[in-house]
Amino acid sequence: MNQTDVKQLLEQMTQDEKIAQLMQLAGFFYEGAAQRGEITGPMEDLGIEEETIINSGSVLGASGAGEVRSIQEAHLKKNRLGIPLLMMADIIHGYKTIFPVPLGISCSWNLDLAEKSAEAAAKEAAVSGVHVTFAPMTDLVRDPRWGRVMESTGEDPFLNSEFAKAFVRGFQGDNLKEDLHRVAACVKHFAAYGASEGGRDYNSVDMSERQLREMYLPAYKAALDEGCEMVMTAFNIVDGIPATGNKRLMRDILRDEWGFDGVMISDWGAVKELIPHGTASNEKEAGKLAIEAGVDIEMMTACYANNLKELMEEGQLEESLVDEAVLRILTLKDKLGLFEKPHRGADVKLEEELVFSKEHRQLSRDLAAKSCVLLKNEGVLPLGKEQKVLLVGPFASSGDVLGPWSWKGPRDEAVTMEEGMKRKIGANNVSVAAGCGIEEAVTEEQWKEIELAVKGADVIVAALGERSEMSGEGGSRADIMLPLAQVEFVRKLKRFNKPVAVVLFNGRPLDLHGVTDQADALLEAWYPGTEAGDAVADLLFGEVNPSGKLTMSFPYAVGQVPVYYNRFNTGRPQKAPHIRERYVSQYLDIPNEPLFPFGFGLSYTSFFYSNLSLSGNVVRSDESIRATVTVTNQGEYAGEETVQLYIKDEVGEVVRPLKELKGFKKVFLKSGESQEITFKINETMLRYTHSDLGYRSDAGSFTVFIGTDSENGKTAAFELELTK
Ligand code: NOJ
Repeated sequence: MNQTDVKQLLEQMTQDEKIAQLMQLAGFFYEGAAQRGEITGPMEDLGIEEETIINSGSVLGASGAGEVRSIQEAHLKKNRLGIPLLMMADIIHGYKTIFPVPLGISCSWNLDLAEKSAEAAAKEAAVSGVHVTFAPMTDLVRDPRWGRVMESTGEDPFLNSEFAKAFVRGFQGDNLKEDLHRVAACVKHFAAYGASEGGRDYNSVDMSERQLREMYLPAYKAALDEGCEMVMTAFNIVDGIPATGNKRLMRDILRDEWGFDGVMISDWGAVKELIPHGTASNEKEAGKLAIEAGVDIEMMTACYANNLKELMEEGQLEESLVDEAVLRILTLKDKLGLFEKPHRGADVKLEEELVFSKEHRQLSRDLAAKSCVLLKNEGVLPLGKEQKVLLVGPFASSGDVLGPWSWKGPRDEAVTMEEGMKRKIGANNVSVAAGCGIEEAVTEEQWKEIELAVKGADVIVAALGERSEMSGEGGSRADIMLPLAQVEFVRKLKRFNKPVAVVLFNGRPLDLHGVTDQADALLEAWYPGTEAGDAVADLLFGEVNPSGKLTMSFPYAVGQVPVYYNRFNTGRPQKAPHIRERYVSQYLDIPNEPLFPFGFGLSYTSFFYSNLSLSGNVVRSDESIRATVTVTNQGEYAGEETVQLYIKDEVGEVVRPLKELKGFKKVFLKSGESQEITFKINETMLRYTHSDLGYRSDAGSFTVFIGTDSENGKTAAFELELTK
């Protein structure tokens, strides 16, 4: 087909057929029904006609090549114009081969591997019948109480944008029509879902448009600039208007200003949620608000299906709005080649071959090892292969290492810590005694077992963390400490006077009081995915040198939240963190600084930064300068470092962050080796959103900072001169 054919198809459609295209129902409406010779399952709750389902446009969460093919076949038999269904699903960090959660992936600062993980996820999903994934999630996050931070790539707009682009490239490739092993991407949640007040899921968001544009919008835009085909709305309100009924966001910014002409879908039930939000009094009003604001597909509720026709008949809704929405959906179907190949990549045989392939598992293992962040190490790690290990804690033998949003990833296929460690040094050298539960204190019985086992051990490895249900959607926590049973457990383990290395499995930055101070080594593993145990063992025994760096600050205490590196100064800053005087911006009881800052992560070796020099000290509109620093590996191990470039605008028309990430480079250095790392600095990197919302730079002084994390590095100064 081409665009003319698609338009002709639209002309042949009845009003009912058009409206039905705008509805998306979950797979359980269809699954099994196809085999029974019916097209659908239960419809009563939604109050929709069978006709509507026969004409519906897309399905959510159906997968498995056989199942999807039979749903599509049954659908096409009944659908008058033969318009295929779009199959959409949440392929967030892998289909069956599960990769680390996105927050973990971002800590690798490895865009290439991130892209490859999305490509592998797309391949497994596409041969299993999926056409569109509801990813990437590019919400900027600053509040670890919010359970969904694990789906994000952290607190920085620049880094979020880079990952957004990498994921879109990986999912979509560059020829969706021909490349049947890719899926269309859907960036979400538009907009600013990550700023939910108090970190409570679905909660309100209220911020200045300047802040929205400067911090929260860039990563969605980056995904779209990379060609992302779809956008999903957010559950929250923005400036008093629910995002799903927000014309300013969708019509003015997304469509008019950014020129996005792809499909916009609501989040699950979010159109109907305009009623409890209080901007619509019934489903009819909700449907009208959403379609007028720009939502094409309504997910899981039937405000459109049951009301749009009546609204048009009453002259309350312009028919052209429905036509535009349908045209966008048909266009996407055409881009995916569905009119020619309605089953697209769905292939039972290839599904067998490609899902869980050796290559995908290896990729998952490599990425997992690069995603872990070493937070502390007092001479314990790496472990020697001759050492006897006592492995304890609720994650010692647990398969709960895939993390939220791994609905197709079987836990029993995941490599546990026990399996990984035993594979590495032999079953005889690892004794396992779980000890406490996630929230249940260690019992006397369990403790006796540990006391016995510890006698033969040189080192204790404690695998601790949060159950995966403690983060993810609907997984907000007000107290983000490790559950007290586990904190207490670590304290008890210390009594043995043997080194304790803690490995953490969790979905958010935690308040690590009572753990950081007790543990001799601390490795943040997030949820590493299918190959968890092997990847962590690779790190613990030094086969891979840790290189992950945090993309979200770890608060000193939850009372500091939100805490993020690119914050503003106040009029009364502290003179220095250790100086305590009254009437400055500080807490009386804790420091202002996070426990572990953005960009932080240790290695088994150490990197030394020296000789930061600039090729000139004036940047002009059409003339960039170069900043060069020497990085030396001063330790005994070869290792990878992520060199980070930050810039501070000293005086602005509006207040400017204390530092902003503007670039990063990865360098692999052997022990004793040095390398010069160079960054280009140009005028476009110095632009920001002014009070009139204009995006431009101002002449003046800047500080460049190049370092190993957002707090430790070398600085130099330069000026920006603008041509009049
Ligand atoms: C709700 C979530 O907010 C969204 O991220 C997801 O894609 C949809 N449900 C569909 O499962």
